[in-house]
Amino acid sequence: MNEHKKPKISTLLYFVRPYPKFIAGMFLLIVASAVFEGANIAVLFGLLGTVLDPAVVSADGNFILSFFSGLIQAIPIQNKIVAISLFMIAITIVKSLLVFARQIFTYHAGYTIWYDVQKKIFEKYMNADYQYFLDHKQGEMIFRAYSAPSVMGGVLQYAGEALALTAQLVMVGIVLVSISPEVSGIVFLFGGVFYFLTNFIAKKVSYNLGRKRTEACEEQNNLLVEFISGIKQIKVFMSEKRWFAEYVLAMKSYFRPALKDRVWHEIPLNAVEIFAIVMLCGLIIVFKRIQGDAFLGQLSLLGTFAYAFYRFMPSLKKIGSLRIGILGNLPIVEALYSVARVKMKTIPDGDVCMGKFNEAIEFRDINFSYPGRTKTLENINFRVKRGEVTAFVGSSGSGKTTIMNLLLRVFAPSDGKILIDGRDIKDLKLESWLKNVGYVSQETFIFNASIEDNIVFGRGYDEKRVVEVCKLANAHEFIETFPEGYKTRVGERGLKLSGGQRQRLAIARAIYSSPQVLIMDEATSALDNVSEAKVREAIKKVSYDHTVILVAHRLSTVVHADQIMVLDQGRIVEKGTHEMLKTGSDIYSELYRGEKVSG
Ligand SMILES: Nc1ncnc2c1ncn2[C@@H]1O[C@H](COP(=O)(O)OP(=O)(O)O)[C@@H](O)[C@H]1O
Ligand SMILES: [Mg+2]
Repeated sequence: MNEHKKPKISTLLYFVRPYPKFIAGMFLLIVASAVFEGANIAVLFGLLGTVLDPAVVSADGNFILSFFSGLIQAIPIQNKIVAISLFMIAITIVKSLLVFARQIFTYHAGYTIWYDVQKKIFEKYMNADYQYFLDHKQGEMIFRAYSAPSVMGGVLQYAGEALALTAQLVMVGIVLVSISPEVSGIVFLFGGVFYFLTNFIAKKVSYNLGRKRTEACEEQNNLLVEFISGIKQIKVFMSEKRWFAEYVLAMKSYFRPALKDRVWHEIPLNAVEIFAIVMLCGLIIVFKRIQGDAFLGQLSLLGTFAYAFYRFMPSLKKIGSLRIGILGNLPIVEALYSVARVKMKTIPDGDVCMGKFNEAIEFRDINFSYPGRTKTLENINFRVKRGEVTAFVGSSGSGKTTIMNLLLRVFAPSDGKILIDGRDIKDLKLESWLKNVGYVSQETFIFNASIEDNIVFGRGYDEKRVVEVCKLANAHEFIETFPEGYKTRVGERGLKLSGGQRQRLAIARAIYSSPQVLIMDEATSALDNVSEAKVREAIKKVSYDHTVILVAHRLSTVVHADQIMVLDQGRIVEKGTHEMLKTGSDIYSELYRGEKVSG
């Protein structure tokens, strides 16, 4: 990250391009307000000329000035000074209204795009592969979804403002040239030097400092997420200091570049004023020298330039400042661009809509490896009939969860076929398959809401059903003991509940929508023997009309299964019922004997 990169302004255009109406409206408002700004100067010149030297108003041959003096002549007021003043006031009012409209428009466009992009990133996350979440740090993902779009909205507003100010300067430049090309030349030279100075700082300094700041920001987010989600372990192992030290480090690597950026930022802004005043004084002295007493005749010219200068010095400064701001935040826009463009979904959805599952699930010659790993599953073949209980056992790391992952299409097999009622899972609309599935994972996810919210989990609320499934999952008894019952809030990740209680809620959630197929990955592993027996009973209750696929390491859970599959290093090494497998000298019988002795 230390190498210098070239800023890519095009990334900003990517976000603006879908809004041609904004672009067109912005363009019109920018041009219109700039034209009126130019007119303001031209009329001021006329006004000063009339006050000081009535001859000037004739504006000999100058197209712009004669256009305005023509307009002023048309005003039916005898006193020219009053006429010009009124005209000037009118122009200023119109100009201010246009500028105001342009500003509102810029904010509106900026906020709209910000809103849309924030939504778009969430939608991308929504559709992303599970793998994407495994490959990226949470803090970074949060930063890109939440903070980055707001920064981008701000950058767009800066950009709109900078364009408008530039157009204004161009317009005023045209008027100034028409009044006096020589004096304008000096002003332009000055403006040019200033432009290149700020441009240099923006590109070389602010942009690169901005990249460092972006990195530091993402790192801070990562550390906070890690710290909060791992708080218990961190406390017990007394590792707080490690996270604190890293956090302070990340903070420093944010604030140092930020301060440096501000310093660089202010240098040209302050220098510009000194240059300007030196130039103005120089002009007056030179004029006085050359023209002697005729100098008074040039006062309107000088006055106009002085006004233009003081009117536009802030604009010039602001453009410089905006450019630096845009480039300094561009790294965040670039990060957002890479998220918006990257393909997060690689497992395609099928288009066959399946109804109720009613026959069998079959794995045919399935091979699978996780990205960057050697073979995780090899030549897996099995068939699960509707209404049956199928159990997977095997040592940790043997691939049990991986089989469930393939079944849930969180991952897709490298080769081989998974058939659901005879149709390849990849042809099915995933939603229509998942509607048939209830799933309890190895690590439960309980979110910080009420117990009933956790069971309903975003599906239609049915109070009776909630109680029913909690009774089935043997959760009803402990929920009843809470003063607030089903309305009890369970804390972040359900940490106000015991492991076994969380597990039982997860089971209740899985059966809430009366799924046809129940997939349980070590659903009872966190339970004590008594609650395990209860859940086992619950599984038995629901499995009369459910197809159950379960992973268990306690054999008591699997003895009644219709078929048991023993996995070892990614392969199915034994298949059969408990009765068939318990005798013999293989893995299962060893497990069985081991458990009998220790149990
Ligand atoms: N997302 C993943 N990326 C890479 N490797 C993984 C991933 N998940 C699991 N593995 C590896 O795959 C193997 C099987 O894991 P898993 O199916 O979870 O085993 P278990 O039988 O304990 O459920 C293990 O060696 C594990 O390290
Ligand atoms: Mg597992």
